[in-house]
Parts: sequence; structure tokens; C-alpha cells
Amino acid sequence: KYLQEDELSDECKKLLLTLPKERGWFVSHIYNYQGFWAIPRVIQGVIACQQQFQAQDSDIILVTTPKSGTTWLKSLLFVLVNRMKYPVIEQNHPLLVKNPHDLIPFLEIRLYVDGLVPNFASFTSPRLLSTHLPFASLPKSVQDSKTKLVYLCRNPKDTFISMWHFINNLRLHHKDIHPIEEKFESFCKGVSPYGPFWNHVLDYWKQSIEKPNKVLFLMYEEIKVQPKLQLKRLAEFLECPFSIEEENCGVIDEILRMCSFENLSNLEVNTNGKLSTEELENKAFFRKGEIGDWKNYFTTEMSEKLNYVIEQKFQGSGLRF
Ligand code: A3P
Repeated sequence: KYLQEDELSDECKKLLLTLPKERGWFVSHIYNYQGFWAIPRVIQGVIACQQQFQAQDSDIILVTTPKSGTTWLKSLLFVLVNRMKYPVIEQNHPLLVKNPHDLIPFLEIRLYVDGLVPNFASFTSPRLLSTHLPFASLPKSVQDSKTKLVYLCRNPKDTFISMWHFINNLRLHHKDIHPIEEKFESFCKGVSPYGPFWNHVLDYWKQSIEKPNKVLFLMYEEIKVQPKLQLKRLAEFLECPFSIEEENCGVIDEILRMCSFENLSNLEVNTNGKLSTEELENKAFFRKGEIGDWKNYFTTEMSEKLNYVIEQKFQGSGLRF
């Protein structure tokens, strides 16, 4: 179902005829809508969410580039924000029985997908939501409200490798895997899900500098290297800082342990479970969880080429990968 295109609305089918398209990642084609690339089913979800979603000031929205560690940050966010309601030591904590994507749903690929009308009645405040949308394409109410945006990105080389594995995993039943060279060329051209990658990252980077109370900019590598510091930054940004007592009791370490790759990837729900609305297996979101796996796949030429692109795109921004 994740890959099907035949259930699109007539309006969306008509729109697709007018959009630039390229050979796809997940499905046959990927289309450029509002300056970013997405598959048809996602575009339909994006339009619905842009038209219908009403943000609340208390909302917290996690925005990520695909394969940057969304699953990890969803788990950290959920446990952090709900730590009074669900103490970390609780045996039946929701994170132990549900995949993070079921706890913090995506707007455009979950709540508003396939013409669904989401029911927010079961959400408690603050509502925890997520999206991969570029800043300019966020629903207007998100931009106009005091909704907080937590942004996560990752080194483009590891992001690319993670994405390449993910699509091949999803396409297993097709029996043909995408040649890495072909997908690499697309990625460098900016043609990747929600890409160009650099535009996505740079737009949020600028917003985080202009509006530090609205957008927090996080990097996968920084969380890996300094997890405590980054979790404290996140807590402070969300106005739920750790108290001295919590720090002394080891709550920060406990949250990090609970959300670690090792812990999450070994839970029954994440080894044998499937997402509640998709056929997607939860284990697809846990592969290696390391920095630098690109070195096992990139040739020297690939590395040099992407270095060049990164340098061109990010120069002067103050951002380094
Ligand atoms: P790799 O494919 O490099 O292993 P996303 O959640 O945005 O889809 O990103 C998936 C990537 O995050 C995968 O990277 C996955 O292994 C990694 N990941 C998932 N859970 C993690 C965790 N708890 N800690 C660190 N990395 C994690």
C-alpha cells in the first residue's frame, strides 16, 4: 500500500500531469511539488495537510530530513515530554510496546494520507506531531502560531546510504535493487525524497538562527557524540528543563538508555511488529545506527563529488558536515 498510486484523487492525478518528474526512489516516478521532490501519495497528503491542519500554540512538531534519525528523536521527544505522565522506569511505558512512529505520527504520510480526516481527540496537550516538509511548505498555521519546531538532519553521506538501504528494503518484493550509482547521481542533483537535501537543511538552519525560540536545529552526529548535552538543549527549548533532582537521579541517562538503538531495536514491537496503519515492518527503521557507514559504500569519486556539492551548497552558511 505504501507504494500504490492507484488510489489517488482525480484532483491529484490532474496536478501530477503538470509537475516536473524524474525516475523515482520508492515508486516509478518522483514529482517536484512546491520546489521539493515527493511521490504521488505523499503529495496528496501534503496538499490535504496544508489545507486542513490547524496548529495550536502548544504543538511540538518534529521536522526531519528522511533517514536522519527521525525514529530516534521521536522516541526521545515522546519520553522527554511525557516523563511526568509516564515515568521512565515504568515497566509498561508506551515506548516499550509501540513503535515511535505510532506515538508521534507524521502529518502528511500518516494523519492526512489517502484522504483521511484525522481525529485529534485522543491527543493530549502538547500534541506531538512530525513531518518531513520543507519550511516553505509547512501548513500556514504552523508558521503563524507559536508551535515549536524541532529540526533534525544528518550528514548527507550517511543520510544517502540509510535511504538507499531503506528503499531497497521496501522494494524487496520487486527483486531488483536500485543501483547505488543511479540513486547517488539523483541525490547529488537534489532529486531525493523531500529534497534537494541542502535546501531543506539550509531553510531550517536560517529559521533556527532568525527564530531560536521557534526552531531548534539538531544534528544526528551531535546527539550521538554529546547525547546528554543535546537532550538538555531539547528540554530547555521545549520549556521542560530537567530539574536538579532529575539530573541527580540519573533521569537523563535513563531516557538515553531507553531510547538507545540497542534497546529500541531489540524490543519485540520493533523486531516483529508492523506500523499500525502500514504494511511497513518496524524493523525497517533500525539498521546500524552509526556515524560513518557511508565509508563502507562510497568510492573515492563518490566521496569527492558529494564533498564538492556540499561545499558549494553550504558555503557561507556556517553549517558543517
Ligand atoms: P542507518 O540506516 O544508518 O542505520 P529515520 O528514523 O529518519 O528513518 O532514520 C533511520 C536511521 O536512524 C537508520 O540509520 C537507523 O538505524 C537509525 N536509528 C534508528 N533508531 C536509532 C537510535 N535509537 N539511535 C541511533 N540511530 C537510530
